[in-house]
Amino acid sequence: MSNALFDKYGGFKSISRIVMDFYDKVLDSDRIGDFFDGIDMPKLIDHQTKFISALLGGPVSYSDERLRRAHASLDLTHEDFDEIRRLLSETLSEHGFSPQDIETVMIEIEARRTSILSTGVS
Ligand code: HEM
Repeated sequence: MSNALFDKYGGFKSISRIVMDFYDKVLDSDRIGDFFDGIDMPKLIDHQTKFISALLGGPVSYSDERLRRAHASLDLTHEDFDEIRRLLSETLSEHGFSPQDIETVMIEIEARRTSILSTGVS
Protein backbone atom coordinates (compact mmCIF):
# COMPACT_ATOMS: atom_id res chain seq x y z
CA MET A 1 0.00 0.00 0.00
CA SER A 2 1.26 3.52 -0.64
CA ASN A 3 1.56 5.83 2.35
CA ALA A 4 -1.54 7.73 1.16
CA LEU A 5 -3.80 6.62 4.01
CA PHE A 6 -1.13 7.19 6.65
CA ASP A 7 -0.71 10.80 5.49
CA LYS A 8 -4.42 11.33 4.80
CA TYR A 9 -5.28 10.57 8.43
CA GLY A 10 -2.57 12.69 10.01
CA GLY A 11 0.41 10.40 10.60
CA PHE A 12 1.64 8.99 13.93
CA LYS A 13 0.23 11.73 16.12
CA SER A 14 -3.34 11.32 15.01
CA ILE A 15 -3.12 7.53 14.78
CA SER A 16 -1.87 7.27 18.35
CA ARG A 17 -4.92 9.28 19.47
CA ILE A 18 -7.17 6.90 17.54
CA VAL A 19 -5.47 3.90 19.15
CA MET A 20 -5.96 5.39 22.64
CA ASP A 21 -9.69 5.80 21.99
CA PHE A 22 -9.78 2.26 20.62
CA TYR A 23 -8.32 0.82 23.85
CA ASP A 24 -10.79 2.82 25.95
CA LYS A 25 -13.49 0.83 24.17
CA VAL A 26 -11.57 -2.44 24.44
CA LEU A 27 -11.12 -2.05 28.21
CA ASP A 28 -14.85 -1.26 28.56
CA SER A 29 -15.86 -4.38 26.66
CA ASP A 30 -17.50 -7.07 28.80
CA ARG A 31 -16.35 -9.67 26.32
CA ILE A 32 -12.62 -8.90 26.10
CA GLY A 33 -11.72 -6.20 28.66
CA ASP A 34 -10.33 -8.73 31.14
CA PHE A 35 -7.62 -9.89 28.75
CA PHE A 36 -5.89 -6.57 29.39
CA ASP A 37 -5.67 -6.80 33.19
CA GLY A 38 -2.04 -6.29 34.15
CA ILE A 39 -0.94 -5.36 30.62
CA ASP A 40 1.43 -2.40 30.19
CA MET A 41 -1.06 -0.21 28.29
CA PRO A 42 1.27 2.66 27.24
CA LYS A 43 3.55 0.07 25.69
CA LEU A 44 0.65 -1.71 24.01
CA ILE A 45 -0.69 1.58 22.62
CA ASP A 46 2.76 2.34 21.26
CA HIS A 47 3.00 -1.07 19.54
CA GLN A 48 -0.53 -0.92 18.21
CA THR A 49 0.11 2.59 16.84
CA LYS A 50 3.10 1.22 14.94
CA PHE A 51 1.08 -1.73 13.71
CA ILE A 52 -1.85 0.41 12.45
CA SER A 53 0.60 2.90 10.93
CA ALA A 54 2.25 0.03 9.07
CA LEU A 55 -1.18 -1.12 7.83
CA LEU A 56 -1.87 2.36 6.50
CA GLY A 57 1.41 2.42 4.61
CA GLY A 58 3.37 4.48 7.15
CA PRO A 59 7.16 4.36 7.47
CA VAL A 60 7.33 1.37 9.81
CA SER A 61 7.05 -2.38 9.45
CA TYR A 62 5.41 -4.93 11.71
CA SER A 63 5.73 -8.63 11.10
CA ASP A 64 2.93 -11.20 11.29
CA GLU A 65 5.35 -13.37 13.27
CA ARG A 66 5.54 -10.71 15.97
CA LEU A 67 1.72 -10.56 16.08
CA ARG A 68 1.58 -14.34 16.35
CA ARG A 69 4.00 -14.40 19.27
CA ALA A 70 2.17 -11.61 21.14
CA HIS A 71 -1.15 -13.52 21.06
CA ALA A 72 -0.06 -17.17 21.08
CA SER A 73 -0.61 -17.76 24.79
CA LEU A 74 -3.92 -15.86 25.06
CA ASP A 75 -6.12 -18.66 23.71
CA LEU A 76 -8.31 -16.25 21.71
CA THR A 77 -11.52 -17.20 19.92
CA HIS A 78 -13.02 -15.96 16.66
CA GLU A 79 -15.58 -14.06 18.75
CA ASP A 80 -12.78 -12.22 20.59
CA PHE A 81 -11.22 -11.32 17.27
CA ASP A 82 -14.58 -10.14 15.87
CA GLU A 83 -15.09 -7.92 18.90
CA ILE A 84 -11.69 -6.23 18.40
CA ARG A 85 -12.50 -5.80 14.72
CA ARG A 86 -15.86 -4.23 15.51
CA LEU A 87 -14.39 -1.80 18.07
CA LEU A 88 -11.60 -0.77 15.74
CA SER A 89 -14.03 -0.15 12.89
CA GLU A 90 -16.25 1.93 15.19
CA THR A 91 -13.27 3.99 16.39
CA LEU A 92 -12.03 4.67 12.87
CA SER A 93 -15.50 5.79 11.88
CA GLU A 94 -15.69 8.19 14.83
CA HIS A 95 -12.35 9.66 13.72
CA GLY A 96 -13.65 10.41 10.25
CA PHE A 97 -12.31 7.48 8.26
CA SER A 98 -14.41 7.00 5.14
CA PRO A 99 -16.32 3.70 4.83
CA GLN A 100 -14.06 2.72 1.96
CA ASP A 101 -10.87 3.37 3.95
CA ILE A 102 -12.29 1.44 6.93
CA GLU A 103 -12.94 -1.44 4.56
CA THR A 104 -9.31 -1.29 3.39
CA VAL A 105 -8.09 -1.48 7.00
CA MET A 106 -10.52 -4.33 7.79
CA ILE A 107 -9.21 -6.37 4.86
CA GLU A 108 -5.68 -5.98 6.24
CA ILE A 109 -6.85 -6.89 9.77
CA GLU A 110 -8.72 -9.92 8.46
CA ALA A 111 -5.55 -11.09 6.70
CA ARG A 112 -3.94 -11.43 10.18
CA ARG A 113 -6.75 -13.48 11.75
CA THR A 114 -4.88 -16.78 11.39
CA SER A 115 -1.67 -15.39 12.89
CA ILE A 116 -3.48 -13.84 15.84
CA LEU A 117 -5.65 -16.86 16.62
CA SER A 118 -2.93 -19.47 16.18
CA THR A 119 -1.90 -21.10 19.41
CA GLY A 120 1.76 -21.30 18.54
CA VAL A 121 1.66 -25.08 18.74
CA SER A 122 1.63 -25.68 14.99
C1 HEM B 1 -7.73 -7.50 15.10
C2 HEM B 1 -6.92 -8.25 15.73
C3 HEM B 1 -5.77 -7.80 16.59
C4 HEM B 1 -4.71 -6.99 16.30
C5 HEM B 1 -4.43 -6.29 14.99
C6 HEM B 1 -3.88 -6.91 17.48
C7 HEM B 1 -2.69 -6.20 17.59
C8 HEM B 1 -1.84 -6.26 18.66
C9 HEM B 1 -0.52 -5.68 18.70
C10 HEM B 1 0.13 -4.90 17.58
C11 HEM B 1 0.02 -5.99 19.90
C12 HEM B 1 1.41 -5.61 20.40
C13 HEM B 1 2.33 -6.78 20.18
C14 HEM B 1 3.77 -6.46 20.52
O1 HEM B 1 4.07 -6.31 21.72
O2 HEM B 1 4.56 -6.34 19.60
C15 HEM B 1 -0.96 -6.76 20.64
C16 HEM B 1 -0.80 -7.25 21.91
C17 HEM B 1 -1.85 -7.76 22.66
N1 HEM B 1 -3.08 -8.11 22.21
FE1 HEM B 1 -3.74 -7.89 20.34
N2 HEM B 1 -4.45 -7.67 18.46
C18 HEM B 1 -5.60 -8.22 17.95
C19 HEM B 1 -6.48 -9.04 18.60
C20 HEM B 1 -6.47 -9.24 19.96
C21 HEM B 1 -7.54 -9.87 20.71
C22 HEM B 1 -8.81 -10.45 20.10
C23 HEM B 1 -7.16 -9.82 22.02
C24 HEM B 1 -7.89 -10.27 23.24
C25 HEM B 1 -9.15 -10.11 23.39
C26 HEM B 1 -5.85 -9.21 22.09
C27 HEM B 1 -5.13 -9.01 23.23
C28 HEM B 1 -3.83 -8.55 23.26
C29 HEM B 1 -3.04 -8.49 24.48
C30 HEM B 1 -3.50 -8.88 25.88
C31 HEM B 1 -1.78 -8.00 24.10
C32 HEM B 1 -0.59 -7.73 25.00
C33 HEM B 1 0.30 -8.92 25.04
C34 HEM B 1 1.44 -8.66 26.03
O3 HEM B 1 1.98 -7.54 26.07
O4 HEM B 1 1.76 -9.59 26.76
N3 HEM B 1 -5.47 -8.86 20.81
N4 HEM B 1 -2.08 -6.91 19.85
